[in-house]
Amino acid sequence: MSSHPSRIKKIAICTGGGDAPGLNAVIRAATLAAHNRGWEVYGIRDGYNGLLLPEQYEDGGLIPLTRDRVRGITHLGGTILGTTNRGNPLRYPIQGFDGTIQEVDRTDELLRHIQLHGFDALISIGGDGSMEIANALSKKGLWVVGVPKTIDNDLAETVITFGFDTAASFATECLDRLHTTAASHSRVMVVEVMGRYAGWIALESGISGSADIILIPEIPYDLDKVAAKILERDQLGRKFCIVMVSEGARPKGGEVSVVSHEIGRLERLGGVGEKIAAALGELTGKETRLVVLGHLLRGGSPTTFDRLIAQRFGAAAVRAIDEGQRGVMVALDPPTVRYVPLDAATSRMKTVPLDSDVILTARDLGICLGD
Ligand code: F6P
Repeated sequence: MSSHPSRIKKIAICTGGGDAPGLNAVIRAATLAAHNRGWEVYGIRDGYNGLLLPEQYEDGGLIPLTRDRVRGITHLGGTILGTTNRGNPLRYPIQGFDGTIQEVDRTDELLRHIQLHGFDALISIGGDGSMEIANALSKKGLWVVGVPKTIDNDLAETVITFGFDTAASFATECLDRLHTTAASHSRVMVVEVMGRYAGWIALESGISGSADIILIPEIPYDLDKVAAKILERDQLGRKFCIVMVSEGARPKGGEVSVVSHEIGRLERLGGVGEKIAAALGELTGKETRLVVLGHLLRGGSPTTFDRLIAQRFGAAAVRAIDEGQRGVMVALDPPTVRYVPLDAATSRMKTVPLDSDVILTARDLGICLGD
């Protein structure tokens, strides 16, 4: 199978950032593909913490990924390795003697641990933050291959990230359920979904679940226009309304709604749905309710699409190593999976293009996008 059977002996796999359905499917596929080439495989616990803080783990922070260990996990949400969106080794938060928190670059230390354990290559499964770390480690000489994960679908150079389909499918199902209660009570239902600064989840599940209004970060909204749409529906006898809101949506000339800023991690978004629901209640005089889907979108069993793409990505990551590809991320470019430079994958965020046919579809269907 391998063109260079003796070169690789031992690889490591890590999962970083927020979890997403399909992580375990990638871990299993990569592990089996590696074992089938005669390689040993280890999983690093909780991002890179298993290597940076080994004393905190009874097993020393590394999980031997045997065939048995990855049996029966394809359909499981979460990650058997654990993950974190706090321990970025490029900006690791350390508390000084005076109590202040400082960000320290721990990548050299991390590379030393990787070398000490004799890992020939690393498969890093994660989103934009994880790919940025992978790219930095690659530039310092580590053999790294990335696998694009995130429910947000905001990673560049891949048509889709695994996890997105499961999250969007669940949000669609929620809209189906909310329609009946919204219609029965003639209410406005505001539904807030995750997605960070990209509107993919809100837009695609909003169209699929027949939302009447969809507000995404890419199109700053005007609440007067949104209220006018609700009242127009009212006059036509459609007394209820479903308003899908992305957590990163912001008013024209305004800012995104942030829950907290913490050193060593990205700002946490949230609260926009609450503001919009309250304002629409005032502007329309209609009874309004808010549903925040939040972390429910990250749980559950991956869809068929996500299980398949996760396993294609996991196997392709091992093939990439076998073929000598370094500093790349596997990416979906239908009908194939190809390798793209980590430099390109980390160069920009993939937001919804305003001229995309999905946006045009929403407009053609009469969905209000808040502008
Ligand atoms: O990036 C995935 C994501 O779920 C975003 O959609 C969301 O903004 C963020 O992570 C939430 O992070 P946390 O797990 O820290 O609440």
